[in-house]
Amino acid sequence: MNIKITEGFSNYLDTLVIPMFNQKGLNDWLSILSEIFGIPEELLFSDFKANHKEIFTTYSNGQRVLLLGLGKEIKQNEIILAFRYLSHFTKGKNFEHIGIDLTNFQFENIENDLIPFFTEMITNGLVLGQYDIQLLKSKKKENINIKSVEILAFNQDQQIQDAIHQGKETAHTQTEVMTLLNLPASHKTALELEDWVKKSAKKHNYKAEIFLKEEITKLGLHALLAVNRGSEIPPRFIIVEHIPNSSQSLKTIGLVGKGVTYDTGGLNIKTQGMHFMKSDMGGAAAVLGTVEIAAKLDLPFHIIGIVPATDNCVDAKSIKPGDVIDSYSGLSIEVMDTDAEGRLIMADALNYLVKNYNPDILIDLATLTGSSVRTLGYHAAAMFTQNEELATQMFLSGQRSGEKVWRLPMWDEYGKNLHSDIADIRNYGLTPLAGASEAAIFLENFIENHQAYVHLDIAGVAYKDTEFAKHKIATSFGIRLLMDFLQQLETK
Ligand code: BES
Ligand code: ZN
Ligand code: ZN
Repeated sequence: MNIKITEGFSNYLDTLVIPMFNQKGLNDWLSILSEIFGIPEELLFSDFKANHKEIFTTYSNGQRVLLLGLGKEIKQNEIILAFRYLSHFTKGKNFEHIGIDLTNFQFENIENDLIPFFTEMITNGLVLGQYDIQLLKSKKKENINIKSVEILAFNQDQQIQDAIHQGKETAHTQTEVMTLLNLPASHKTALELEDWVKKSAKKHNYKAEIFLKEEITKLGLHALLAVNRGSEIPPRFIIVEHIPNSSQSLKTIGLVGKGVTYDTGGLNIKTQGMHFMKSDMGGAAAVLGTVEIAAKLDLPFHIIGIVPATDNCVDAKSIKPGDVIDSYSGLSIEVMDTDAEGRLIMADALNYLVKNYNPDILIDLATLTGSSVRTLGYHAAAMFTQNEELATQMFLSGQRSGEKVWRLPMWDEYGKNLHSDIADIRNYGLTPLAGASEAAIFLENFIENHQAYVHLDIAGVAYKDTEFAKHKIATSFGIRLLMDFLQQLETK
């Protein structure tokens, strides 16, 4: 999709899009449009209120004209969603060359420095909307895609070019990691993840170090090895690193993403919804995506991403409930439930990251517990942190990006049931209560008292029902959230 900013539209556009807010003065502008397009004013007033994602179609001078509602407020994710919606639902309908008019009166009154912001979100939404979920169909439905987009704006400076670049590149990475999640386990193992990372690192010029089973063994990542014991595919320990070009002493951000490529539950085999568990690498997708984008845009942070990758399967060699395993940290773990595998591999990865990189800020993302889904549904990730400032920053990033987080408690009491008589800690307290908080406390035991740690349980939000497919699909949750978080952060 070729996207450019223009001072005037080309004459070959088949579609003109006029985005509009449901704000004061809407009707004044509609009455001008009603004259231009010859639509009776009352009909237009009654048929178009500029509600979010509302589309009014008319035809003029051999072109389609779409009025696109953006709702009441100027919100990042609402603009993205409206344009993604437009782009998604025009597939197959011969929309090839579209123009977007950002010069109408509402945009005239909007501060000029918001125009790059709009441009980025519009671009991002349009590209995301073209995502094609038909990954493994033998006969794909023909989709006539948008070929070119012209954005008409008052301002055509470099900032706008950068915004287009950023919106597009972010969307490309988002769709890439969505595919990683949407692919089934038959087409996605730790080895395929490794291939993806190698290709991405080479293309976008960032560092990737991938430990094979022998190195993982030598390093003593015992918890990862334990989960991998039931698998026919060896594990991978993936470390990706973005080192900015301006290599002053910038903040170091450590990211860890749960990379369980398929979670059967192990010997505590799942009895419900196992087919959803190809999505148990939503944390990995968010981390790998964020590092890829950081490299593409050369963000001013030193970012280290770690993904422990394996599936969790059933085999004679699988770990058994009651087994005691070692971990990288040296703590022994009594495995009460083999389905609480995520926290085991995360424990090793978090401990490795802290000990070897000592980041200023440590964030993990993991599809960790059903408990977080039961608490917050599909609308927000559960956030756990003891750091008030980070809690506020992350919360605000969630509000702005629409990838919402809601803080849950991490009080000591929730760790009480993790006591083990024979080992240092249990991986599960054997009660059905407050499971997300308990998992967070488990992880906290492996971060060496790091003072700026945030754990995000994204089980409900990484893969879910959306308007863009008939069943649950990947959302790329975490990428926009972390991008916003990094943009707000002081670099030193
Ligand atoms: N991958 C699951 C959590 C999950 C649930 C992700 C729903 C996405 C949607 C995790 O490994 C798991 O099985 N957790 C168990 C832990 C329990 C055995 C302590 C759970 O939440 O039931
Ligand atoms: Zn599990
Ligand atoms: Zn899992």
